[in-house]
Amino acid sequence: MTAGSANSMWGGRFSTGPDALMEAINASISFDKRLAAQDIAGSRVHAAMLAATDIISHADAQAIDAGLAQVLAEIEAGRFEFSPALEDIHMNVEARLREVIGAPAGRLHTARSRNDQVALDFRLWVRDHCDAAIAGLEELIRVFLAQAEAGADWVMPGFTHLQTAQPVTWGHHMLAYVEMFARDRSRFIDARARMNECPLGAAALAGTSFPIDRHMTAKALGFDRPTANSLDTVADRDFALEFLSAASICAMHLSRFAEELVIWSSAQFRFVRMSDRFSTGSSIMPQKRNPDAAELLRAKLGRILGATVALFTVMKGLPLTYSKDMQEDKEQVFDAADNLLLGLAAMAGMVSDLTANRPALETAAASGFSTATDLADWLVRALNLPFREAHHVTGSLVKLAEEKGCDLADLALEEMRAVHGEIHSEVYSVLGVQNSVASRTSYGGTAPENVRAQIARWKENLG
Ligand code: ARG
Repeated sequence: MTAGSANSMWGGRFSTGPDALMEAINASISFDKRLAAQDIAGSRVHAAMLAATDIISHADAQAIDAGLAQVLAEIEAGRFEFSPALEDIHMNVEARLREVIGAPAGRLHTARSRNDQVALDFRLWVRDHCDAAIAGLEELIRVFLAQAEAGADWVMPGFTHLQTAQPVTWGHHMLAYVEMFARDRSRFIDARARMNECPLGAAALAGTSFPIDRHMTAKALGFDRPTANSLDTVADRDFALEFLSAASICAMHLSRFAEELVIWSSAQFRFVRMSDRFSTGSSIMPQKRNPDAAELLRAKLGRILGATVALFTVMKGLPLTYSKDMQEDKEQVFDAADNLLLGLAAMAGMVSDLTANRPALETAAASGFSTATDLADWLVRALNLPFREAHHVTGSLVKLAEEKGCDLADLALEEMRAVHGEIHSEVYSVLGVQNSVASRTSYGGTAPENVRAQIARWKENLG
């Protein structure tokens, strides 16, 4: 069909077709063709239900089903010609079905509208991509667990304000991300459970007068139940917004670890070495190993969060029910999902290839007076000083070491006693980083034994 001739789907009321610009702004086929498999699955179930409820004949339903199977095969084989004049995936499929099977094709759209059809297709697509995100996160969690296990007792500096704070273990740092990604996973699981109601049968907005069986179609498409309010069903896209919100939070976590990789792989830190497979060189500086993949992962959140904000903004002012604005939902979600899945896989690859530089981590852990808190705690325990006084004494000792250009452990006992007369030689035992991390056994603390217990718990949880 070309501009000028009226549309075959609703041509009855129109004498001319759309302007070329109208077609350009209206057509969604360039992107919603990604919903083809979902659209055809929904139509096949709908046709079977129409026959089971005697709304159409079994012969027509069979012809429709066989025709749709052929259309799907054509699309999968790349032999289908998508037409912008037919606007979207729904009308492209139906028009081709008519070419393939003739008149019975016209019965498929009984008791259905594109409004419940698109709500169904899109929900199926988002549901599939929740599953993909869950699987991607599980793989990523396994990779972080392997890193944690390898270095459960390796000592590294823990930071606040990116200033050395206290020694921690590599395993504990890896497990921090396991916690984050596990919460991300549970967000996708929750969102999936909430969206798992079938929109099909809401029709345009009010339901239908045909005796359809919405429970049958819901079950056949793997939904827990049909949606309960037809207006809500065609009007809302909160399931897509939940997906995008979960994706944004997850991408934020990916971005934070990516940032750590960028810092840690620098010549100034040398905490880690990224594999050749996930590094790039410079065309002019031969010494360079650039962490491009990590940098790009850091940037992906901008894109995914952008999609989230875009869809919120599309939805926020729409009166019930469907408005064409909502056609703008798909590209945002497709792009966000593609980039999230790519990001999860790339991060899993980078982290499984990552080599930690254990000596560099340990040296860094011991610098910057990282055991000052251990010293203050010892003054409280061994000399019964109030913590505030212990803090003050320790501060003086740090100042002294700084002036001398040495570490706390390098101060002579006499020098320490000049600051507080009761300090005795046992103090040196708490100044070592290994002792420091081993002592942090409070639940959730960084001690290697805690790390090993948490790894065991996660392995059991993940199955
Ligand atoms: N392509 C449309 C979309 O994505 C399908 C629904 C069209 N519905 C309508 N009433 N025009 O939203």
